[in-house]
Amino acid sequence: MAEKHHDLSTAPGIWSLRQLPEMDEAQFSQWRTLLEHRTGMTLTRERKSFLETNVGIRMREIECNSYQAYYEKIVSGNEAVVEWGILVDRLTVQETRFLRDPDAFRLVSDYILTRPREVLKRRPLEAWSVGCSTGEEPYTLAMLLNESMTQLDLPPLFGVTGSDISKPAIEKARRGQFSARKLIGMDENLKTRYFRPAERNTVEIVESIRQRVCFTRLNVLDLKQAPMHGMNIIFCQNLLIYFRRWRRREIVKRLAERLAPGGLLVLGQGELTDWQPPGLQRVPSENVLAWIRRQSDEE
Ligand SMILES: C[S@@+](CC[C@H](N)C(=O)[O-])C[C@H]1O[C@@H](n2cnc3c(N)ncnc32)[C@H](O)[C@@H]1O
Repeated sequence: MAEKHHDLSTAPGIWSLRQLPEMDEAQFSQWRTLLEHRTGMTLTRERKSFLETNVGIRMREIECNSYQAYYEKIVSGNEAVVEWGILVDRLTVQETRFLRDPDAFRLVSDYILTRPREVLKRRPLEAWSVGCSTGEEPYTLAMLLNESMTQLDLPPLFGVTGSDISKPAIEKARRGQFSARKLIGMDENLKTRYFRPAERNTVEIVESIRQRVCFTRLNVLDLKQAPMHGMNIIFCQNLLIYFRRWRRREIVKRLAERLAPGGLLVLGQGELTDWQPPGLQRVPSENVLAWIRRQSDEE
């Protein structure tokens, strides 16, 4: 008698066990185009399995069994906006940490410490972390601005804005609560001054710093709509690396427009090569890619 096999994939409730087929070339190209058009991120061929895995996980969650049907859900219909918001969070790389690029943060501190005192007293400093992920970068900026102001014996007159395309990342950033492991290797002084132990092996950012940092959801392709102007510091690291060169230039040009005269723009090392953004002057540094907006009409 022939052995009886159970087809688990068709049994109710365990649809999720079914294997999704490989994405064919046309489907990959369609998804890749959509992602680049909406976020700027280019997906290399090597990242096809990353796309398949993450789109696949989401499709299983909502019991959708064809890439095409899911694509339609993303581009049209009542739930398209919400569904896209969920998917984009899964497709973006959100790796980040406190003080990720120590040289860049040192440059920021030196920049503040060498500003004319009267300028620092006259108007609160505004900093912006573009593509801030879960908040480690803007909180680092806030801690360092606070350190610098303390060193200068000035009141902590500054604000930091973090923006990102991912809603869950922004929500996590707003909570200001992190795994205690995230502080491993951090200077003890910074740890004790800026973090408090919280529930279940987590730490939270102290209130005085949280109050100075706000978060907003913003697609960097929509900078025209961004209300940020007159920024003293713009920090944009590990976001443009996923973009084409022409788009990086476009975005940097737009970010430069949002700087106050004399303001500082910091990118990740190697993120923009062979090009000088108009109106900006390169900061001489071997380890940090940064520019200052020309001071002609500064304060
Ligand atoms: C690798 S993280 C970098 C985080 C932080 N800047 C750092 O260097 O540690 C890249 C972030 O860029 C965000 N991102 C990707 N595309 C974006 C877009 N079009 N607009 C705004 N944020 C975007 C992602 O959601 C992710 O949080």
